[in-house]
Amino acid sequence: MLDIISLFPEKQDIPEKFSISEVTQNRYLVNGQIRTWNGPLEEVYSPVCVREKNSLSRVLLGHHPLLTENEAMEALQAAVKAYDGGMGAWPTMSVEERIQHVREFASLMKGKREEVVRLLMWEIGKSYADSQKEFDRTFQYIMDTIDALKEQDRVASRFTIEEGIIGQIRRSPLGVVLCMGPYNYPLNETFATLIPALIMGNAIIFKPARFGVLLYEPLLEAFRDAFPKGVVNTVYGDGEAVILPMMRTGLINVLAFIGSSRVANILKSNHPKLNRLRGVLGLEAKNAAIILEDTDMDTAVQESLLGSLSFNGQRCTALKIIFVHENIAETFIKRYNTALKELKFGMPWEENVKITPLPENGKTEYLKALVEDAVQHGASVMNEQGGDFAGTFFYPALLYPVNEKMRVYHEEQFGPVVPVIPFKDVETPINYIADSPYGQQLSIFGRDSGRIASLIDPLVNQVCRVNINTQCQRQPDTFPFTGRKDSAEGTLSVSDALRAFSIRTLVAAKNNDLNDTIIKDIVRNRKSNFLSTDFIF
Ligand code: G3H
Repeated sequence: MLDIISLFPEKQDIPEKFSISEVTQNRYLVNGQIRTWNGPLEEVYSPVCVREKNSLSRVLLGHHPLLTENEAMEALQAAVKAYDGGMGAWPTMSVEERIQHVREFASLMKGKREEVVRLLMWEIGKSYADSQKEFDRTFQYIMDTIDALKEQDRVASRFTIEEGIIGQIRRSPLGVVLCMGPYNYPLNETFATLIPALIMGNAIIFKPARFGVLLYEPLLEAFRDAFPKGVVNTVYGDGEAVILPMMRTGLINVLAFIGSSRVANILKSNHPKLNRLRGVLGLEAKNAAIILEDTDMDTAVQESLLGSLSFNGQRCTALKIIFVHENIAETFIKRYNTALKELKFGMPWEENVKITPLPENGKTEYLKALVEDAVQHGASVMNEQGGDFAGTFFYPALLYPVNEKMRVYHEEQFGPVVPVIPFKDVETPINYIADSPYGQQLSIFGRDSGRIASLIDPLVNQVCRVNINTQCQRQPDTFPFTGRKDSAEGTLSVSDALRAFSIRTLVAAKNNDLNDTIIKDIVRNRKSNFLSTDFIF
């Protein structure tokens, strides 16, 4: 029997290598200046608690600014000015030069790896190994974005002649982009929109996620030094105070938001000119696994365990409901349970740790309520200690058999609660998926190719990625990542994101002597950054 409280360290037990000192983040970046904020600050607590006798208290990590509408408006004005209706230095700069700026940023960012990784670990409780992975994946994403843009630009650096019209077709920026990432990937998912938006020539305002704020402190200088003034601006604080006033101006052209559809709808509905607002949204999901009778049990167990419990189930792509054929349900539960027991529970700095404390206030109580509700409606907790919690640590709960009366059947738990539903007829999971308000991904586990094929065809029109004998996931980042219904708006991948933050624009002319002379002169003498045949190597 695991004594959950004892998973938390006493103050002196925190390894020196991972210790952290309080960070007073009282600076923000606006119009190329890092300003000091003397107003109210928000306290930032870690999901990690320290134990004193038998009581737990969350570690105070530091503070971040609680800016007001005034500072938000200054950030907005700075971005509007930098974009200058598309006439600013940044949006009119050549692609090659913009790439240079992003490269410079990436190299400055690399120098801050250890600081950022450590803050990431402490702020959201992600294991040290996974925090390192998040940083490295993000760095790689920037490099891949540069390569994808070069490729896009090479294709666009030629003229097309159709029906007597000569044209050059490229992609141009959209304007001012507001970027808001999620707390589970506060660096990676924020940068997966911010970097492509930036490199395409847009001006950015970004607000760090609810948790994972302090990790941006070490990057402020890099943003300031790598980009022209006003191209990147940061805001911190309460969304209602800083985000809604910006939306109400109608000056935001793209909302890049990863979070809940409820918040996305509030933000969008405050914009007065909806036709001028593009949404690039990553929202909720309730991805299902369908485990067929002939499944390879080892694979089904391993992948569903990873899919449902990686980073404590706090991934939008996590498997949040598992349908298993009734004839193998008992074996599946037994095997899942055995594999679950093997997972290492503990603090994020521990080697090979898999289940760690949760950052959201009240989250363990919420998850407990989901478990109690399921039990009340006929499910059992199939694993010893499932649903036990202390402070911010929640012991994963395997629930079976789950049915439609239970909250966990409908709600996105975003945590270590694993609902399992037995089925006789595969129509049961198909109907669940078709009726779901979400449509991101699903996983099918089985061996019979004919059976799997008969599920693929109807299900690819319900979700945007069908995984075979593989958990749901976003990676590789070059694959399209999107969703139907309330799960997403727009598509992200390294190359798709470049499209999401730009619009096809062309210069065209009747193919006659005068126009030929003008175009040749512009191109040969490099008079334009847009109308150009320069080839980026
Ligand atoms: O939270 C949603 C993330 O995009 C999931 O990414 O599948 O690579 O963990 P991942």
